[in-house]
Amino acid sequence: MKKPLILALIILSFSFTDCQPNRQPNKETTHAFANKIDSLLSLMTLDEKIGQLNQLTGNGEVTGPVTLSQNYQEAIRNGQVGSMLNVNGAAYTYKIQKIAVEESRLGIPLIFGYDVIHGYKTIFPIPLGESASWDLEAIETKCKGCCCRSCRRRTTLDFAPMVDIARDPRWGRIMEGAGEDPYLGSQIARARVRGFQGNDLSENNTIMACAKHFMAYGAAEAGRDYNTVDMSKRRLHEVYLPPFKAAVDEGVATIMTSFNEFNGIPMTGNKVYVNELLRHQWNFNGIVVSDWGSIAEMITHGAATDRKDAAEQAMNASVDMDMEGHAYLHHLKELVSNGVISQNQIDQAVKRILEKKFELGLFEDPYRYCDIEREATVTLSKKHRSLARESARKSMILLKNDHKTLPFSKNVKTIAVIGPLGESKVDMIGTWNARGEGKDAVSLVEGISNVVPDARILYAKGCETEGTSTSEFNKALQIAQKADIVIAAVGERAMMSGEALSRQDIRLPGMQEALVKKLASLKKPMAVVLFNGRPLVITEVAKVAPAILESWLAGTEAGNAIADVLFGDYNPSGKLPVTFPYSLGQVPVYYAHKNTGRPRIENSRYTSKYIDGPNKPLYPFGYGLSYTSFSYNNLLVPETMSGEETLLISVDVTNTGEWAGEEVVQLYINDSVASVTRPVKALKKFKKILLQPGKTQTVQFELTTDDLAFYNRNWKWVAEPGYFTIFVGGNSENTLSRDFQLVYNNKN
Ligand code: BGC
Repeated sequence: MKKPLILALIILSFSFTDCQPNRQPNKETTHAFANKIDSLLSLMTLDEKIGQLNQLTGNGEVTGPVTLSQNYQEAIRNGQVGSMLNVNGAAYTYKIQKIAVEESRLGIPLIFGYDVIHGYKTIFPIPLGESASWDLEAIETKCKGCCCRSCRRRTTLDFAPMVDIARDPRWGRIMEGAGEDPYLGSQIARARVRGFQGNDLSENNTIMACAKHFMAYGAAEAGRDYNTVDMSKRRLHEVYLPPFKAAVDEGVATIMTSFNEFNGIPMTGNKVYVNELLRHQWNFNGIVVSDWGSIAEMITHGAATDRKDAAEQAMNASVDMDMEGHAYLHHLKELVSNGVISQNQIDQAVKRILEKKFELGLFEDPYRYCDIEREATVTLSKKHRSLARESARKSMILLKNDHKTLPFSKNVKTIAVIGPLGESKVDMIGTWNARGEGKDAVSLVEGISNVVPDARILYAKGCETEGTSTSEFNKALQIAQKADIVIAAVGERAMMSGEALSRQDIRLPGMQEALVKKLASLKKPMAVVLFNGRPLVITEVAKVAPAILESWLAGTEAGNAIADVLFGDYNPSGKLPVTFPYSLGQVPVYYAHKNTGRPRIENSRYTSKYIDGPNKPLYPFGYGLSYTSFSYNNLLVPETMSGEETLLISVDVTNTGEWAGEEVVQLYINDSVASVTRPVKALKKFKKILLQPGKTQTVQFELTTDDLAFYNRNWKWVAEPGYFTIFVGGNSENTLSRDFQLVYNNKN
């Protein structure tokens, strides 16, 4: 117990006034802590250094397979642990930190990691749903205000945001990301990193973010989680890497490697991408943490003979922290004594970890993340609940609304809610719900009774979410017959999306589609409310349902937020961050596809098409309706742009309906002829605006050559002269368009 005190004196003997951690940890920042880190490093044995690289799971949720178990409290005492994940609650975090600080030889505080993916206790919409808001400010505020303030009571490192682009809705983890588009994904990645980290990690309401999973994890073959990824360098750089680069540019503190192999090499041992691209080309100075056991999993991949070999490969790839892999702790020492891994490699990794501990202010106050009182007051507070309701409302997308079925009048007397998810609470909070509890969530039936208290609500399940029984159909139909309006509550249970929860059939599971058809045959005013963590194939539903509201898995306040939208207290403005396929056979289907040499021509034999269905999806990227309508006019684009100029584009957007409403004005480009084929459309800008009925706003955008650039045939980042088309509209399909010419002397 005396020695940690000695350490404290040594550390405090350096002035803290020069410590100005900033968003992008540059050389100056590193220098600010360099003396302290060096002095600490000089006190550490090799075993203690290796201990800093070891991250173990605690007593909370187990978020992966436990392959080797270790008495972690004992290991902390022995200086064999630098970081923990899944430690439950501020009180327990305090206890564990106390062991590290008071009972280990050097008293180095621990980092505590946790998956706060969409809220902590108060659960917000799943990240895919939140992304449907296209509201960067709201996303940043949410991350700052709610996730940080509440989870910071026990967590130093949030394993979020997941910035993996995903274009295959079978993949269960599509719910954790921002959808299919690299530009939207990058903007959201930046907003989330800013929200979590703020400007200074030592401040009271910030937390280290972790951009995961590096890299291309979202491209798992056939949408099966953890599956092989094999793709071209071009696709990787154009589609899958931009959100990671954006997160790094925003100063993200940590990055997690992914489980998948990439072109034959598991990512956790992938020197070319982790060490060379991420560290050297992108200058990432933060911590690289493996995914759960992903160092040791190199053995099952068939890329390492044993844990020792795996540890060597991960170290050489410059992975600093071994999450629950037990490879570093047990094998690095031997690898160093054999001269296979150098002392310097270990020192560099330890330095990166210590630096973050200094930036977080842990050496000044190791217990700053263990505020029991604050944990109790902020979680599930009224304020958080109201932010969660607002965030949930923003995430909803009106997919269909024939004859203005929605919003329903609040004067209705009898409402039938039919479907297996109508009364569910636990399914509202999705997976990765960070100590959220179903009992705290508001079900759809509860939400409706809160918003329309005078109406009589009749509920029937109709069928289970899964299974083949239709025995409850008749009862449900009889109940629906008695009502003025029918709300079908159908979709996926929470445990049908998330990690290791891929699906082969992405239609409504069980007999729910048949139930919707039966309900629709009653010809009552009816809306289908979808609950789901991924795009679903709802083509049959869309044929019969007059109105469809996509509510995702909207969190603790789901029921209230859905009722707000259904009964007109909120005008929906969400837009799809990911395409909704017409059929599973189209997958992957995304708006930014290439043209091919034979694009589809109706009734023409040798063109790129299916003989049994359309090429077009059911609902395109960027799509979403409102209770009002918007018209787009006067798209103005200069005819030419020179290499140095900024292109000024404007369009008039008018609210032509009767409601005040928000619209996401989207700008896409196409480069008609290039040295490398370009997507038919690529999102480059968007703005979310609020318009009163009858009002027009001129929305302006600026494009630079960087927005037009891509890696050309010689792998140079360049905008090639020639003709481009600008498309502007409220989704990726219905747009106004104008051409312009980029004129300059391109030498690349
Ligand atoms: C997931 C990560 C997560 C980690 C820790 C892994 O199984 O892939 O996203 O952060 O567990 O819970």
